[in-house]
Amino acid sequence: MASLFDFGDEPIELLDPGAGIGSLTAAFAHCAGRRRLHASCFEIDPHYHAGLQETLRALRNVDAQILSLDFIESSVRWTQASEQPRYTHAIANPPYRKISADSRERRLVSKLGLATSNLYSAFLACAIAQCVRGAQIVAIVPRSFMNGPYFKSFRYWLLDRVALIHIHLFERRDSAFADDKVLQENVILKMVAGGMQGDVTVSSSTDDRFADLRERRVSFDEIVTPGDDELFIHVPAAHTQRMAVLNGIPLRELGIDVCTGPVVDFRLREHLRQQPQEGSVPLLYATHFNGGFAWPREGRKPNAIDANSQTQSWLMPNGCYVVTRRFTSKEEKRRIVAHMLPADALSANRIGFENHLNVFHRDKRGLPERLAIGLCAYLNSQEVDDYFRTFSGHTQVNATDLRRLKYPSIAQLEALANGQEN
Ligand SMILES: C[S@@+](CC[C@H](N)C(=O)[O-])C[C@H]1O[C@@H](n2cnc3c(N)ncnc32)[C@H](O)[C@@H]1O
Repeated sequence: MASLFDFGDEPIELLDPGAGIGSLTAAFAHCAGRRRLHASCFEIDPHYHAGLQETLRALRNVDAQILSLDFIESSVRWTQASEQPRYTHAIANPPYRKISADSRERRLVSKLGLATSNLYSAFLACAIAQCVRGAQIVAIVPRSFMNGPYFKSFRYWLLDRVALIHIHLFERRDSAFADDKVLQENVILKMVAGGMQGDVTVSSSTDDRFADLRERRVSFDEIVTPGDDELFIHVPAAHTQRMAVLNGIPLRELGIDVCTGPVVDFRLREHLRQQPQEGSVPLLYATHFNGGFAWPREGRKPNAIDANSQTQSWLMPNGCYVVTRRFTSKEEKRRIVAHMLPADALSANRIGFENHLNVFHRDKRGLPERLAIGLCAYLNSQEVDDYFRTFSGHTQVNATDLRRLKYPSIAQLEALANGQEN
């Protein structure tokens, strides 16, 4: 992280918010070589103060100040008092935890014009607020802010105030930033406050040994798609070229939509049947598609659901559908695993799709078979997989993610279907 900075000739005012025992300030001082610098190390936990003092004392080129203050509170107070920001460099490994809507931290950062749900994004925003125009900020954070609705406001706030210079992705997910047991990938960001956005350096490595470091420059359009009002931040794989998948059309233009399987099994437990019986219809889980479609299957999962007035609204007409699994991990060969349910596979009027599946449909009904074959082939392609990995750092494949992908035209999908058959 420290090696990503330019040190220049101007006086250096370093900010280390949440400094712990000062490892990041020490690394920064080391990379700065003979340059002298002033460092402000904020650390709220007094347990670290002795260690922090010891680290700082050993740094010959650093004139440091330990601030035993709540960094968020101080930063917001200074901003409100219109104090001039002073830092030319910031290096941060912020604390990480969810902050609820009525928390003190949320109220404080709202005064900076920001609504955010995690301490790390609040911390990063406060650090940026204390930096002068042109300051360089390097931070290690989870990747979770780069997509999804919870961080949309933060992405707007951030990209309004900084230019992204470098994104480094650690491809191995790390429990250090585990979020509700969903392991997260981590990124190191280098940003310039108030900078002009240009091309971005993207690098990746499996882990912090950097043994397989790869790097390339990409245009900002590859990071944030022009016109995307969600402002998703993609991290293109450091070893692939710009992907054609970006140039397709939205799913709705194909007259297709995707939903999560409507049957939440534990809510309808009393209506589930292990084996088909009088009055029941097929209930499909991911397991029915593994290694080719087969129903019913022996196993733990029920094969059927009673069709009655209480289950009726959760069932769909029998037909040809494309389904994908909702939970896959990045260690698997493909993150998007699509299967097809042929129209004639089941002889029932209605069917249930369990909630761990996403279902592609047309007006809640099945799809034309050729279109479904092409769609399935497209979703299982390497190109889609590469693209999906640029914005998903966790284990879920949500219907909204699938809606965000771009798709080939109907004619192209049907041509793909021909290719599948030849
Ligand atoms: C993830 S640790 C990083 C420590 C150090 N920078 C490093 O990389 O080794 C985050 C640190 O922030 C401190 N911290 C948490 N909330 C804080 C706050 N509101 N103000 C100042 N420090 C805080 C914690 O005590 C902890 O030492």
